[in-house]
Amino acid sequence: MSRVRKFSALEILDSRGRPTLLARCELEDGAFGQASVPAGASTGGNEALELRDGDERRHAGLGCLKAVARLNDDISRAAEGKRFESQAELDQFLIELDGRQDKSRLGANAILGASLAFCRAVAAQRGLELYQHLADMAGLSPQLPRPMINLFSGGAHAGAQVSVQDAQLLMPQADSLSRALEMTGDVYRVAAERMRRRYDMRLLRADEGGLAPPFADSRAMLAEAVAAIEAAGYAPGEDIALTLDVAASQFCHDGRYLLDGAWLESGELLDEITDWLKEFPIVSIEDGLAEEDWAGWRGLHARVGSRVMLLGDDLLCTNPRRIQHAIDQSAANSLLLKVNQIGTLTEALASLRLARQAGWRVVVSARSGETEDDWLADLAAGWAADYIKVGSITQSERLAKYNRLLVLERMAGLRFAG
Ligand code: PGA
Ligand code: ZN
Repeated sequence: MSRVRKFSALEILDSRGRPTLLARCELEDGAFGQASVPAGASTGGNEALELRDGDERRHAGLGCLKAVARLNDDISRAAEGKRFESQAELDQFLIELDGRQDKSRLGANAILGASLAFCRAVAAQRGLELYQHLADMAGLSPQLPRPMINLFSGGAHAGAQVSVQDAQLLMPQADSLSRALEMTGDVYRVAAERMRRRYDMRLLRADEGGLAPPFADSRAMLAEAVAAIEAAGYAPGEDIALTLDVAASQFCHDGRYLLDGAWLESGELLDEITDWLKEFPIVSIEDGLAEEDWAGWRGLHARVGSRVMLLGDDLLCTNPRRIQHAIDQSAANSLLLKVNQIGTLTEALASLRLARQAGWRVVVSARSGETEDDWLADLAAGWAADYIKVGSITQSERLAKYNRLLVLERMAGLRFAG
């Protein structure tokens, strides 16, 4: 592996119109790579910290010029001329250069930008597609993840008109990604037309492109998802199942939950979720309880963990320590992997390995603030994720990932997971 010539960065905009970073890495032999960094809105309390300018005069304080400077100056100066034999070496160097547990000195956004751009540069140097390089790094055989695709949205991505954040479609039997996307299009069109008639409204879309009408409550959102699947000519549960992101940390206050206007104790929310599972064809629940409600998570796992995916997003924050704790506590059975929650590829890979050792499923996920970059598709395929969660099929920052996966399906002939 050759030496680093320099790192650099640029402030660009994400799909919410907020600043983020485009990072670039040049190696001494001329190979280079660049990558942009996503950002969340319903972020977990234990995520590595993004560096934002805090200068209210620019982008309401969300500017990324400080993070750009950390890459252009601190990281680039320290890395210049250094030889890194592996991604792990580069990432360890970045972690030590930052020196803080939460990566707040350089910023997790600057660090992830450097980590990803280096990865792309080395893939280019090796003459490999990014997914192949990532698969080599992980020692895995690539496969095409099955998508969980956003139909309806609420919570922090849609002005909180209902509490549950995402109702998603999963096509358990579709034999290809292109078929799964086609089925999604059928349901999405029908759902959009039904919403237009029922609510007499033009299409309102949430951050990830999901439809976001003013449902009476989360249960109504689930019922409408099932009705749209049926109206599109599919069998709910067989052809198309539902997966939810409850994102419960977002409506948990002092240990109690404000679900669709009603205050619930943890045990009552657990009962409510159990009822949803009886009534609707739901196969996966993400963040059903809040990020520090370990007793609630254990309770849900004891009740339904043998038959439903219990997916930890805010609970785990792609952090090996939290994942180990969840394994020890029997609190979850699946990992939602978001690289920017932890900050480097190497740490995210450690999280994936830990989850796999415990026999967990892995869902690679985008953020609600994304860009047109498609590295996430290669990461999900190269690291052989079971599922990918990118959002809906109506916005280009989401389609960049689906379309890249379609290329991998067609050109690389990757096996479709599940
Ligand atoms: P975020 O949401 O990117 O806004 O954190 C995505 C999710 O909760 O899965
Ligand atoms: Zn989530």
